[in-house]
Amino acid sequence: MGGGDSQFEAHAGRGRFNAAFFHVMDGCINWYLRRHKEAVYADLPRTVVEIGSGVGANFRYVQPGTTVIAVEPNPYMHRSLRLAAERRGIALEIRDVVGERIDLPDSSADAVISSLALCTVSNPSQVVAEVHRVLRPGGRYSYLEHVAAREGTPTRGVQRMVRRPWAWVFEGCSCERDLEAVIRSAGFSSVENRRYRIHSPFVPFNTQIAGTAVR
Ligand SMILES: C[S@@+](CC[C@H](N)C(=O)[O-])C[C@H]1O[C@@H](n2cnc3c(N)ncnc32)[C@H](O)[C@@H]1O
Repeated sequence: MGGGDSQFEAHAGRGRFNAAFFHVMDGCINWYLRRHKEAVYADLPRTVVEIGSGVGANFRYVQPGTTVIAVEPNPYMHRSLRLAAERRGIALEIRDVVGERIDLPDSSADAVISSLALCTVSNPSQVVAEVHRVLRPGGRYSYLEHVAAREGTPTRGVQRMVRRPWAWVFEGCSCERDLEAVIRSAGFSSVENRRYRIHSPFVPFNTQIAGTAVR
């Protein structure tokens, strides 16, 4: 157990494995996602809230000197996250809570970001509702997530086939979520969402969305 919140159960073996996996694979994953991230994370303000920061994959997209408030309940990510922040000159505040219950006041954030996080949280609708709550009116939520492929496609079949082992290895991650619908139904005043496909060897992960929702 760990994570400071009963909604998140950290697993020692898989927690360490995932921290190491995302650390080792960081450059490779970023290579596939970089153009989409450059587009959605452009011009972030000097303080940013991030949901599920992992080991800091997105720190390369914020200016040095930025404060990142990292909502990251997995204690096995924290050491690498701190080191990544030091390397990039980022002022890091780790919030050891789940995205379903962010310990920030209403309307207090100019920007919230996430990548590959809504696939793993227990309740993505609740997390996005929390993102909406903490954003000030006019504030932005910029995201990149992997989502369910269209029904009837070979990728959708593979996503269904690997459901259980994938979720076991990647601590609850699902490749079968319609996260565009989740974001569109959260009450934002506008949502600019792009759906695209990458061509990585991790087939279930290749159908993705990236965009910005404005409160
Ligand atoms: C697949 S990793 C992605 C990490 C990073 N954002 C990236 O792009 O490499 C998912 C992250 O979400 C975190 N996470 C899991 N459940 C969460 C929750 N309920 N609230 C916030 N973060 C959560 C995990 O600990 C993990 O760091």
